[in-house]
Amino acid sequence: MSNTFYKIYESPARVAEQFAEHLSEWMAEQSDDPFHIALSGGSTPRILFDLLAKNYANKFPWDQVHFWWGDERCVPPDHAESNFGMTRRHLFEFLDIPDKNIHRVRGELDPATEAIRYEKEIREWVPAYGNWPRFDVMMLGLGSDGHTASIFPHQMELLDDPNICVVATHPDSGQKRISLSGKAINHAKRITFLATGVSKTDKYTQIVDRKGDFALYPASYIKAQEGDVYWFIDEAAAGS
Ligand code: 6PG
Repeated sequence: MSNTFYKIYESPARVAEQFAEHLSEWMAEQSDDPFHIALSGGSTPRILFDLLAKNYANKFPWDQVHFWWGDERCVPPDHAESNFGMTRRHLFEFLDIPDKNIHRVRGELDPATEAIRYEKEIREWVPAYGNWPRFDVMMLGLGSDGHTASIFPHQMELLDDPNICVVATHPDSGQKRISLSGKAINHAKRITFLATGVSKTDKYTQIVDRKGDFALYPASYIKAQEGDVYWFIDEAAAGS
């Protein structure tokens, strides 16, 4: 039975604080087992990463946490648009995380080849649920066009792709991306959306109320198979 929880807070800072507290509780449930989290990119996660770096450096069992990405731009790690590069600048540089725990997508490599390689690495490390990896936390953002990870409205077929990793294309820039497929996302234990600001209100309300053009938005099809979905949003995004 899958549940959806709506966690609405007054500000982006409170969203980050509460997400961090939930993360702490979820890690504690895991006892000594490895904790596999797939991170999202873009700008929203930065405030969370800055908070974790500032206040949680000694509060989390970081050597137990394995970092993955739900999607990555096909650029080198030192490129301004690299999700790994952003995470390194805002989080990894401040924490003592074993290199083996950081599973970056090698955006500098051929996309199709890297999608296959990353899928193999996921299968090697992340416990499976049936034929799908079961990430302990899947962090997602919500794009202004209703995309999530790098599944955009013009590539809805990636939601049902039979592979764990897919090659996606940004609709405007044509930039290649490596993304987890919709099925890989939906098999996570905890699927968490982080969305803040008024730019998310329109799509958020259509998606959660299943009204308007919600059927056109990839984020509408994110449904936990055997887990739970959490929306961590601020009042601006909620339109409240
Ligand atoms: C990416 C993301 C993407 C992001 C949304 C929201 O690589 O850009 O993973 O899905 O989460 O576009 O981005 P913002 O947080 O910048 O609004």
